[in-house]
Amino acid sequence: MIRISKVTMDYVTELTGVSEIPQIGWVIKGDGRNERQQNYQLQIATDNEFLELCYDSGVVMSDQSAHIRPEMELTSLTKYFVHVSVTMEDGQTSGWSQPVYFVTSLCRNEWSADFISADSDMDARNSKGTYVRKQIVLKKPMKEAYIVSTALGLYELYINGERVGRDELTPGFTSYRKHLVYQTYEVTGLLRTGDNVIGAMIGAGWYKGKMGFLGKYNNYGSRSAFIQQLLIRYTDGSSQWIVTDETWKGNDAPILFAEIYDGETYDANQEITGWCQAGLDDSPWRTVEVIPYDMSVLEAQGTATVKEIEPVPARRIFNTPEGDLVIDFGQNLTGWIHVKAWGRAGDEIMLHCFEVLDAAGNVYLDNLRGAKQQLHYIFAEEKEVEYYPSFTFQGFQYAKISKYPGEAKPENFVAYAAHSEMGNTGMFECSNPLVNQLQHNILWGMKGNFVDVPTDCPQRNERLGWTGDAQIFCRTASYLMNTYHFYKKWLRDVEVDQTPEGGVPHVVPDLLTGQPETENDWLLSRGTHSAAAWADAAVIIPWVLYQVYGDQAILEKQYASMKNWVDFMRTHAEDYIWNYKLQFGDWVALDAEEGSYFGATPNDLTGTAYFAYTTGLFAKACKVLERTNDADFYLDLHHKIVAKYQRTFFAADGALTVQTQTAHIITLYFNLVPKSLIPNVVDGLKRQLKKENGHLVTGFVGTPYFCHALSENGCTKEAYDLLLKDDFPSWLYQVKMGATTIWEHWDGIKPDGSMWSADMNSFNHYAYGAVGEWLYRVCAGIEIDDEEPGYKHIIFQPQTGGGFRYAWGTFEAIYGQIISHWSMEDDIIRLEFEVPVNTTATIYTEPCREILESDGLSFRKCENGYSAETGSGRYVIKYRKNC
Ligand code: BGC
Repeated sequence: MIRISKVTMDYVTELTGVSEIPQIGWVIKGDGRNERQQNYQLQIATDNEFLELCYDSGVVMSDQSAHIRPEMELTSLTKYFVHVSVTMEDGQTSGWSQPVYFVTSLCRNEWSADFISADSDMDARNSKGTYVRKQIVLKKPMKEAYIVSTALGLYELYINGERVGRDELTPGFTSYRKHLVYQTYEVTGLLRTGDNVIGAMIGAGWYKGKMGFLGKYNNYGSRSAFIQQLLIRYTDGSSQWIVTDETWKGNDAPILFAEIYDGETYDANQEITGWCQAGLDDSPWRTVEVIPYDMSVLEAQGTATVKEIEPVPARRIFNTPEGDLVIDFGQNLTGWIHVKAWGRAGDEIMLHCFEVLDAAGNVYLDNLRGAKQQLHYIFAEEKEVEYYPSFTFQGFQYAKISKYPGEAKPENFVAYAAHSEMGNTGMFECSNPLVNQLQHNILWGMKGNFVDVPTDCPQRNERLGWTGDAQIFCRTASYLMNTYHFYKKWLRDVEVDQTPEGGVPHVVPDLLTGQPETENDWLLSRGTHSAAAWADAAVIIPWVLYQVYGDQAILEKQYASMKNWVDFMRTHAEDYIWNYKLQFGDWVALDAEEGSYFGATPNDLTGTAYFAYTTGLFAKACKVLERTNDADFYLDLHHKIVAKYQRTFFAADGALTVQTQTAHIITLYFNLVPKSLIPNVVDGLKRQLKKENGHLVTGFVGTPYFCHALSENGCTKEAYDLLLKDDFPSWLYQVKMGATTIWEHWDGIKPDGSMWSADMNSFNHYAYGAVGEWLYRVCAGIEIDDEEPGYKHIIFQPQTGGGFRYAWGTFEAIYGQIISHWSMEDDIIRLEFEVPVNTTATIYTEPCREILESDGLSFRKCENGYSAETGSGRYVIKYRKNC
C-alpha cells in the first residue's frame, strides 16, 4: 500500500506569505521495496474541494517528486490548496493526498500603507514600547480577511484585543534599509461585522535599540514604526483595504524600556484598559507620524519566524554562598522566563538572567559584558499576574531573583526556549551517554543561536550574525532541523550587505562597515569584512542547502552574491595567495600565543585554503546551473589556487611547511594534497595529535573537519579517540564539566574552576558543535551524493568504532525518513537502514571479509569491503568487520 504522507511547499507544510509560487514536493510512504514513482498529477485550487482549479499538471510521466514549480499566476492574499496523486512503477496508485495550502502575500509588492510612528524625535535613545490603533467599522458580512504587517523595530499585532499569530520578535533582524521582511496572517476569525480595532505594540529591537559591541543606538533609524495593510473580502464580492496612515492614533505602552541585550521593564500602572478594543475614547491619544521608507526593500516571510518553542520549568531555587536567591532551569537556553506572582500595587519582580555559577557557586555576570539581561515588572494593583517580556530575549540557565513579592517557588517560573521555527529533522544516539549529552548540547546550541539570524552567542552584548560561526555549523544545523527558510532569509542579508566589490561583512546584518567607531577598535580597525572562513559563508551555505534539499533555486538566487565573493578574493589575492586585512585565522585555537585569540596557523595558509575550497564549490554550482563558461573559468581558477597552495605550503621533503593540526586538517579535507603526498600529510596530522597527547588544539577553522580529515584517510580509530577524549581540551571535557550547550572556548571553565577571560566567554556558542556533522555523516553514516542531492541517492557508509555498541541516526529528508542503525556484537555488525520511497541508495560496508546476511541485496567487493545498490525499503544486513 502506498500513500502520500506529506505534501511540501518549499520544503515545509505550512507557508503563509509567499510572493511567488513555491516548489512543490511530496513524501510517498509504502511498505514494499524498490518503489519508484512512474507518474504524478498535481493540482492547485482556491478551494479545498478542488472545484476552482488554477493549475492541473495532468498526468506527468516522471519520477520527480520534489522541486516542481507550476507555472501559474498568483493573486495576492489568496489561499491556494495543493494536492497530488501518484502512480508507482508497479501500478499502485496513491489517490489524492490530503490537501495542504499556502497563502500568498503581496505578490507585486503592492504597498499603499505608510509606516507610522508614535515615537517623537526626542525618543531616539528611548527604547520604550508604543501603541498604535485604529477603530474601523465593517458594514457588510465578511468572507475572508488577510493582513500583512511589519515594523521598524519589533511589533506585536492585535485585533480586538487578541494577539494575531504566535510569532515573537517579528520582523526579526535584517539589514533593514536594504531588506525588511513582513508577515502575512489570515485574520478572518478575529474580525466581526460592526466595530473593530486593529492595534500594534511596537518596540525598539534590533532596529533602533543599542546593538553590536560598539554599543551604538539607532543603527537603522531613530524612531520605531509600524505598517499594515488589511484586506477584507466581503461576501458580496467587494473588498476593502484598511491601511496604516496618519489617521491612526498612538500612545505609550506599559513597556517603559525594552532592548535586546538589557531586558525589559513593564509598569502595569501604565496599562490602558481596552487599548485595542472598540469603544475606547482615543481622543487623548497622539496623532502618529508617517515615516518615509523605501517600500521596494520589503519581502514576504512565509515561515521560520521566531516562536516560543519549548517550555523548560525551573528545576530548583536555591541560595548561593553569597546569599543570592537563584533559579536554576537545568538547561542553558535562549528565550525568556514566564513568571507568575501575586503582588500588590508597587510590588516588583526583578530577575537577572545569567549562564553559569562561578567556582564558589555564586552568581557570575562578568561574561555578559554590557548586557543586563534583566526582567522587571511593577504591579499596579493587588492581583496575580503572569508576565513575560515582549521585545527582548536572554541567554541563560540561571536567574537571580532580586525582587519578588512573597515566596518564590519553582512552579512560578517557566523558561521558554524561543527560536526560529524549523521542524526537527535529524537525531543521533549511540551507546555512549557522554556522546549523547554532546549531541544534546549541539542541539541546544542550535536552539539558542537560531533566533531569527544565526548568532554567535545569545547572552553577552553581541548576539550577531557572525558569518564564520554560521558557515561552520551550517551542515550540522541542516541535519538537525529544516534550515532552508532560515538561511534563505539571512543569505539575502549577506547579499545586500556585501560591499560594492563583493566583500562579505564579518557580521550580517552588518553593523560594522562604515562605522567611524571601528577605527579606534584594536581589532576592527584592521577590517570589517572579507575574512577567510567567515566570508566564505556566502558560497558554502547556499551549497550546503543545495546538497541537503537538492535545491537549485537557492544557487540561482545567490549566484551573483557567490560570484561577487569569489571575484573579490580573486581580485585581492596576490599570485593566488589570499590574505586580506583583518583575518581571524584559526580563531581561538589553543595553539595561540598566551592571551591571543589567533591560532598558530598563518593567515596565508587558512586564507588560501578557503580560497581554493570556495572557488571549487562555486565552480560546481556553476556546473549545476549549466553556466558552462563560468564553470570552466572557476574550475581553472581553483586548479591554479591549488597548484600555488602546493608550491607554497609543501616543503621539498613533502611535509607541510606549517606544522599545526589545523594546517594538516584543512589541507586534507579541502583536497589540497598532491595524491602521492596524502600518506605524508596524514602521518603529519597523527604526529601533531600525538604531540598533544591525543588532544585537539584547533580553533574555528580546524575543529569542524578534524574527525573527517582522520576518518576520510583511514584513521577512523583516531577520529573516535579524538571524539572520546574527555579531559581538557576536548568536546567531552565540557560535557563532564556539566555543560548543556557548546562552549565558545575549550577552556571556558578551566580544570581548576577558573574561567577564560570574561571579555569573551560564551557558554552557548554553537561553532564547535560542528562535530555533529561527523556523528551523522560518518558514525551513523548517512551521506549525501552531490550528483543526486537532496538525498535522492543516499550513501550509507557507517564507520563503527569508539567502543559503541550501537549508534543510529535518522533524518527527515525531502523524500522521507532515512534511518541508519548499527549495532555490534564482537566483530559482527548488524546494519539496519531505511531508504525512502522514490530514492535509491548505495551501501558501503567497512573493511570486511564477508557479508553474513544480505537481505536480498547483491553485494560486490569494493576496496576493502563490499557495496550494494538498492531502492527503497527497510533492510537488515550483517557483516563481519575486519579487526
Ligand atoms: C564571536 C565569534 C566570532 C568572532 C570573530 C567573536 O566575538 O563571538 O564567534 O566569529 O568574534 O572574531
